[in-house]
Amino acid sequence: KESLLVDQHGRRLNYLRLSVTDRCNFRCYYCMPEEGINFAPRKDLLSFEEMYQLSSQFVGLGIDKIRITGGEPFVRNGIIPFLYKLSKLNGLQEITITSNGTLSTKNQASLKEMGIRKINISLDSLDATRFHRITRRDSFDTVYKGIFGLLNDGFEVKLNCVVAENKNIEDIVPFIELTKDHPLSVRFLEEMPFNGSEVSGYSGWDYKRIYEHINQQYTDVNRLISEDNSTSVNYKIPGYTGSFGIIPSFSRTFCGTCNRIRLSATGELRTCLYGPPAANLRDIMRSGANSEELQQVLLNAVAKREKDGYAAEALSHESVHTSMSALGG
Ligand code: GTP
Ligand code: 5AD
Ligand code: SF4
Repeated sequence: KESLLVDQHGRRLNYLRLSVTDRCNFRCYYCMPEEGINFAPRKDLLSFEEMYQLSSQFVGLGIDKIRITGGEPFVRNGIIPFLYKLSKLNGLQEITITSNGTLSTKNQASLKEMGIRKINISLDSLDATRFHRITRRDSFDTVYKGIFGLLNDGFEVKLNCVVAENKNIEDIVPFIELTKDHPLSVRFLEEMPFNGSEVSGYSGWDYKRIYEHINQQYTDVNRLISEDNSTSVNYKIPGYTGSFGIIPSFSRTFCGTCNRIRLSATGELRTCLYGPPAANLRDIMRSGANSEELQQVLLNAVAKREKDGYAAEALSHESVHTSMSALGG
């Protein structure tokens, strides 16, 4: 079924990124300070019932893929029963998850049972000391073992690695070496200057520089054909089992084909990661809106959608002052 969510630039949205919490058991330097951010009080979070109703509205309009994000999605109590219910929603083809990998092992059997097969794990270093410097937590072994647990159980795993000077440049090549014998996709991300973090402005490691760094070590790199709407440009070292990719999350070269819409844990609807919220669906629901009214809100928000991340950013600087943990990634 073709999505009815089409913006004024002809982009059809079929992919919802649903953040289920703004909380996290990590404190990645690019996301939040040691003391955390101002986490939303419980009453401000969408309940699972509200999330389900909203997801069902979205799917009715043509969303067929939902990615569960956070914060760290597995720290929200009751997430597993919610996912079971969501996995049975008619018309929803795929549920995927982005997680920091600390709690995936514990939930692996449930995920498998409900048919969730793809999981993206954030891992910025293959060295426990650097891992700690980045996340301020000592969970390297747990996360690393968890990744292989998932792979051995048949999950499709992508790793997200945010590249930064003085943090993990020495990890780039080892990450690629990890794809030699393992069917992993490692994606290198440009750091985004979202507040709540130490990051401000351009980091110096954009997608070109990341590629050149890799190309210096590997002269033979094959470019892969990527899925439509992919944020990453993907490559493979000939003979290696897995692949790697580069996500220009700061340069934003992919806005022209962006098929995503986002819902934060507090109900904020965003048609762009860099843009202001188009509406708060929690407030609209709690004020008693019926299904038709809600549908109209979604259609209107999409109709007004800006062409790219720069246009959205120019409209409001709100998003750049918010942590990814609150935005939903
Ligand atoms: P799949 O393509 O479904 O695997 O998802 P993904 O790669 O988008 O998901 P993931 O949650 O792993 O996202 C990785 C990173 O890509 C995000 O944290 C962002 O840095 C970046 N990204 C994803 N979507 C957008 C987007 O719409 N705009 C921008 N600027 N960056 C995005
Ligand atoms: N810049 C780039 N990537 C970020 N992420 C979180 N904050 C930032 C940022 N400021 C990444 C995480 C995770 C994904 C959802 O977003 O590493 O993999
Ligand atoms: Fe947690 Fe992800 Fe933010 Fe790190 S980037 S603190 S794992 S929400």
